[in-house]
Amino acid sequence: MRNRRAALAAIAGAASLALTLSACGQSGEGGSKEEAGDTKGATIGIAMPTKSSERWIADGNNVVKDLESKGYKTKLVYGEDDPDQQVGQIENLITQGVKALIVAAIDNKSMNNVLQQAKDADIPVISYDRLILGTENVDYYASFDNEKVGELQGNYIVEKLGLKDGSKKGPFNIELFAGSNDDNNTRYFFQGAMNVLQPYIDKKQLVVRSKQTALNQVTTLRWDGGTAQKRMDDILTSAYKSERVDAVLSPYDGISIGILSALRSDDYGSKAKPWPIVTGQDAEVASVKSIIADEQSMTVYKDTRELAKVASNMVDAALNGKKPEVNDTKTYDNGAKVVPAYLLTPVSVDKTNYQKTVVDSGYIKESDLK
Ligand code: GAL
Repeated sequence: MRNRRAALAAIAGAASLALTLSACGQSGEGGSKEEAGDTKGATIGIAMPTKSSERWIADGNNVVKDLESKGYKTKLVYGEDDPDQQVGQIENLITQGVKALIVAAIDNKSMNNVLQQAKDADIPVISYDRLILGTENVDYYASFDNEKVGELQGNYIVEKLGLKDGSKKGPFNIELFAGSNDDNNTRYFFQGAMNVLQPYIDKKQLVVRSKQTALNQVTTLRWDGGTAQKRMDDILTSAYKSERVDAVLSPYDGISIGILSALRSDDYGSKAKPWPIVTGQDAEVASVKSIIADEQSMTVYKDTRELAKVASNMVDAALNGKKPEVNDTKTYDNGAKVVPAYLLTPVSVDKTNYQKTVVDSGYIKESDLK
């Protein structure tokens, strides 16, 4: 860290360092005072993917709040789901002299050049929620146990269908949806869910009538609900005549809402055609309301307030020459290195526990659910 800051000072503020050193008289002591002061008032760049989903708005606000409470200034930008725009924004943040970066990438493979610039300017980079791939210039990763997210979704389906305890044998019809193919989390969510579902598919207790089971057949670019709605429409038209879909694996609430719209247009949610089990993730207000209304079945709650804290603590430690706290040094190989990670625990939420999990914890205001 000493080298890092020395290089940084040389680039960003040799003149002010010289002033401080001469004022303090002793280079060693003066240097560290300068470092402490410099670090505290430092500006941290935060690059978030989109404002189209409420979770990322909350993530941005929470990271800003946590960093400001530690004495940092912040610059928060949103890339509006356009990878080029996000890369340009990060370049600007580096030019503007931020001292650390927190990045939730839109396209996890688009960051090599810009993160080389960060490295050259000695700026530590925290990969936020989504792992950035293919570059060594990612210092730490703050996220949730992403495979566990998929397992919670898969388990919910097999439990509610009665397959898990053997009370029902099926066969039941299921369709599979995954997230954006440029988001590294997508394969972890899908893998986690398929670890649970695949044995039942193999035994034909679960049947995918569309036959679309490979990850590259079921992804949803940029997690877009409209795209998922269209795919569900097409599947219902082509693969379901008199048959009914019993469960839909959905990785994210925005996608679940699209799927439910397609189902509604096909008369699901009526007496004759009850809703299938539909999973989700993020505990977004629209989906928690849908769960209360017995439409969407479940979501996975990830307390993004905690994630923001983890990322802010990582920045604070990295800038102060301390080792950020991590709890996983094996799982997240980004192709260039295994990125040390701190992973939080996701929680399965349905109608039976939403009050305790997301309302009582203050994550969602009760009044927003009315
Ligand atoms: C993922 C994230 C999910 C969900 C999704 C769509 O990277 O882990 O929680 O938010 O993006 O925004």
